[in-house]
Amino acid sequence: MKVVLAYSGGLDTTVLLTWLQEKYDAEVICYCSNVGQEEELDGLEQKALKHGAVKCYVDDVQEEFAADYIYPIMQANAIYEGTYLLGTSIARPLIAKRMIDIANAEGAEAICHGATGKGNDQVRFELTAYALKPDIKVIAPWRMPADFPFEGRSDMIKYLEEKGIPTTVSASKPYSMDRNMLHISFEGGILEDPWNEPDENMWCMTKPLSQAADTPETIEVSFEKGIPVAVNGETLSPAALLKKLNAIGCEHGVGRIDIVENRFTGMKDRGVYETPGGTILHHAHRALESICMDRETMHLRDGFIPKYAELVYNGFWFAPEREMLQAAITKSQETVTGDVRVKLFKGGVHVCGRRSPYSLYSPKLVSFDEAGGYDQSDATGFIKLNALRLRVLATMKNG
Ligand code: ARG
Ligand code: SIN
Repeated sequence: MKVVLAYSGGLDTTVLLTWLQEKYDAEVICYCSNVGQEEELDGLEQKALKHGAVKCYVDDVQEEFAADYIYPIMQANAIYEGTYLLGTSIARPLIAKRMIDIANAEGAEAICHGATGKGNDQVRFELTAYALKPDIKVIAPWRMPADFPFEGRSDMIKYLEEKGIPTTVSASKPYSMDRNMLHISFEGGILEDPWNEPDENMWCMTKPLSQAADTPETIEVSFEKGIPVAVNGETLSPAALLKKLNAIGCEHGVGRIDIVENRFTGMKDRGVYETPGGTILHHAHRALESICMDRETMHLRDGFIPKYAELVYNGFWFAPEREMLQAAITKSQETVTGDVRVKLFKGGVHVCGRRSPYSLYSPKLVSFDEAGGYDQSDATGFIKLNALRLRVLATMKNG
C-alpha cells in the first residue's frame, strides 16, 4: 500500500512514519507544506528518507495559501465566534488538497495525518480529502488506540529507540502550537485552565505591549476588489504583503487574542492566538468597505458571515455551500478598491483615513450645512410610512 503522510519531522510524525511501515508494510510518501510556519525545512527530505520514506515532498505553497485561501476569507471579513480570524482552519484544506494531488500523482490509495480524534483538524483534513477524492482511504492513528498504543511522548521516544531510530527530540513545549503566515495558535497543556494566563515568553509573532513601540506608526494599505495589493504604496505579492504586515504588527503588539471557542466536535477549547497582519487587514478592509460598498449588499453579506466562518472553521471549504457564499462575496467586492490609513499603537489598530475611486460617500449629501440635492421634507413621509405598522400595533395594544 502507498500512503501519503502529513509529515513535519517532529516526534509524532516520525513515529507515524515508522509505524505505517511496520503496520501496513506501507510505502510512505512524506508531505510537508511550507505555509509560512518559519520552520527550518532544509534537511527534512533527508530525514524522511533516512527513516524509510520512499519519497518526501517539501511543498512551498505560501503564495497560493495567501492568494486563494487567506485573502478570500479576508474579503468576507470572516471571523469565528466574533474573535477568531481562522488562522489554522484555513490552512487545513490547502494541505489536504495538496496531499490528494500527490496521492493522485503517486497512485497512493491512502493518506495519514496526526490530528487527534478530539479536534477540528481531523475533520478539516478528511472532509477535504473525501470531497476531492471520494474513494481515498484515511488513516488517523490517534483514533486507533488498539493499533497505535501511544499515550504520550515518552511512549513514542521508547518506541523509536526500540526500532533503533535516533531521536533528536526537541524539548517538549507546555502547549500545542500551529503556525503559518496568518497566525500562530497555542492550545492545551498549561493553557487548559482558562483562568491561567500564559507566560509572556510563550508569544512569538507579537511584542508585548510593554515593549511595543512607544510612538504610533501610520501605514497605508491598498486594496483591489477587496484584495490587499500594496503597503505604503509598495506593491507586494500576496504572501510578501502579509509577511510585511506581520512584521509591522509585531512591533506594535497587534493581534493577540485569548479565547474559549466551540470546537465542531462539541467541546469548548481554550486557544491563544497571534494574528498581527491579519488583524490589520481585517480592520483596514472593513474601513474601505464602509465607503464603497452599498448598504444592502453589506448588510446581507454581514448576515451570512457567521455561517460562512462556521463553514470554514468546521472544514467545509470544498463544499457547495461555501462556494456559493464565496461567489456572493466575490461579487460584493467588485468596487472594494482604494486605500486605507491605519495607525498602530500599543496593540491597537486605529483607522484614520479611507479613499476610493468608487466611493459612495457624499459630503454634500450628509452635510449639516447644505441641502446637497436632498429635500428634508421627503423624510416626513418616509418616517410616516415606516411608523404605520408600529402605530397600528400600539393602537391595538392600548385598546
Ligand atoms: N483551535 C484552532 C482551530 O481549531 C487551532 C487549532 C490548532 N491546531 C493544532 N494542531 N495545534 O482552528
Ligand atoms: C488536534 O486535536 O489534533 C489539534 C486541535 C484541533 O484539531 O482542534
